Amino acid sequence: MRMRKALKMQHRGQGPPAVKRYTFPADIPIPDYLRRTYWWAYLNPRGVRFFERQWLVNLILWGNYRRLRDAALAELGFPIRGKVLQVACVYGDFTERVARRLGPQAHMDVIDVAPVQLDNLKRKIKGHRGISLHRQDSVDLAFADGTYDYVVVYFLLHEQPGSARIRTIGEAMRVVRPGGKVIFVDYHQPSPANPMRYVMTPVLTLLEPFAMDMWVNNIADWLPAAARPAAVEKHTYFGGLYQKVVVTA
Ligand SMILES: C[S@@+](CC[C@H](N)C(=O)[O-])C[C@H]1O[C@@H](n2cnc3c(N)ncnc32)[C@H](O)[C@@H]1O
Repeated sequence: MRMRKALKMQHRGQGPPAVKRYTFPADIPIPDYLRRTYWWAYLNPRGVRFFERQWLVNLILWGNYRRLRDAALAELGFPIRGKVLQVACVYGDFTERVARRLGPQAHMDVIDVAPVQLDNLKRKIKGHRGISLHRQDSVDLAFADGTYDYVVVYFLLHEQPGSARIRTIGEAMRVVRPGGKVIFVDYHQPSPANPMRYVMTPVLTLLEPFAMDMWVNNIADWLPAAARPAAVEKHTYFGGLYQKVVVTA
């Protein structure tokens, strides 16, 4: 049975009951934007070793790592009940923090398209229970509709070109259950008085060619046309440079 079909059945409760801890199929291509633009940060093993430092991730976020991480964690409650999906690995301790908060019946799936990232995460979550890693592309998730209570998309959208970003948002909305939450944390346009806008414009333009889209669009405007969210809440941080958008399905 093909991996995608097996996983969909498993998540509908029709398939074999055991939740696999790791599913790393080889036949998923690495998206072009990742190979061309971000290979040095996410695909190159030396890059992974270099960036996997809490202080460095905090520096890249201008000292806001804890604040943004905790803002996302706060949406999950404590202890976390139900099923959580993290769409794409991240550097730092975000996933471990979620894993530590999982209640006895809770479970977390993490997907990423880059095997080297999943291997890195495997090492970081050693010893934590209730967490499974899957090699999948965010634009085409292998989970059934309405599987999750929470879907977290943490600093992924700004890295994706428009078409991939819209598909990622569509998939996040598809796999969350009615009443569940999709939590996006990402860049946002700083307020006119925030001097960071003059620092970040050249940085993002040079290093993250799709990131400025986050400055001129609302995440809510990328929701699928058929989505009828019960609520959309937006909070901004650090003079508007970062945002958390919580969509209740
Ligand atoms: C979510 S972003 C996180 C960046 C952030 N600066 C951090 O690490 O805290 C980077 C991750 O997204 C993954 N990624 C990018 N495009 C993806 C896609 N289409 N599907 C799944 N994972 C993807 C990359 O492989 C990488 O592990």
